[in-house]
Amino acid sequence: MEDILSIDPTTLSIGQRHGYLLSAIGPRPIALASTIDAEGNVNLSPYSFFNAFSTNPPILIFSPARRGRDNTTKHSYENVNEIKEVVINIVDHSMVHQMSLSSTEYPKGVNEFVKSGFTQIPSTKVRPPRVGESPVSFECIVKEVVPLGNVGASGNLVISEVIQIHIQKKFLDEQGKLDTTKLDLVGRMGGMWYCRASGSALFEVEKPGAEMGIGVDKLPSHVLASHVLTGNDLGRLGGLSDLPTEEDIIKMKEVHQFADWHGDIRDAEELRDSVHHKAKEMIESGLVKEALTLLHCI
Ligand SMILES: Cc1cc2nc3c(=O)[nH]c(=O)nc-3n(C[C@H](O)[C@H](O)[C@H](O)COP(=O)(O)O)c2cc1C
Repeated sequence: MEDILSIDPTTLSIGQRHGYLLSAIGPRPIALASTIDAEGNVNLSPYSFFNAFSTNPPILIFSPARRGRDNTTKHSYENVNEIKEVVINIVDHSMVHQMSLSSTEYPKGVNEFVKSGFTQIPSTKVRPPRVGESPVSFECIVKEVVPLGNVGASGNLVISEVIQIHIQKKFLDEQGKLDTTKLDLVGRMGGMWYCRASGSALFEVEKPGAEMGIGVDKLPSHVLASHVLTGNDLGRLGGLSDLPTEEDIIKMKEVHQFADWHGDIRDAEELRDSVHHKAKEMIESGLVKEALTLLHCI
């Protein structure tokens, strides 16, 4: 275990704790939260302690924390306690620098829509306005604010129920669903890092089907001990619902002229590695079932 740093978080400073948590828990989505105070002053601030937690009811939660340096509270937190409404605006790549500017700690009463240059559009069911540039905005009522502590850096969960959704139509596909490949969303990482969910950063992973996968534990022992096949390869093989039949294996041996191939390869280890390489190629080209059959040929 020499290569593992193992830490009791109570031994860390707030800054160190913040660093480990936020660098490890990422990318985090960003809620650009619009709120108002009792006098009607508008506030706009980004929060990456944020996610969706329920579909029915539709619940989003973000957390404006107490400031680590002086234990003061954020305007967004004060506002949702005064007026229990919020608009959570989603942030895409074209909005990153204005969003960052809106996180500036301007004095209370300063409208960060104005400071950051975002377009303020009246909401339909709540009083805080929404951000015109956002691909998607959620008008919410605040169900509950849950303080997680009363010291510096304690979070406060703002549990919000979505009552209206606004979507820019250009981000929809032909079926009227939001198209992830069009959205160009960004995520917050540790330190000053962000990431962009577009292009080659996006990939699909098929959900396990209704038929249960055989599991990695059912794969041949030489596959589990492979230096060629990765954990992802094992995950895909273990996701297949059936082991190959004897018939499949015989056919596969014929197709790959296993007898000849065997003749070319001097020892068992070499044969095993070459079969693993071939199986890996098959997995990468989507022939996972065939790869599993091949792996049963040795
Ligand atoms: C991308 C991003 C994410 C942030 N996430 C959080 C967060 O989750 N919680 C928090 O308390 N502050 C967060 N901040 C800092 C607040 O946005 C910042 O303190 C802001 O000034 C609060 O504004 P307010 O006092 O007007 O509400 C984040 C800042 C940025 C740029």
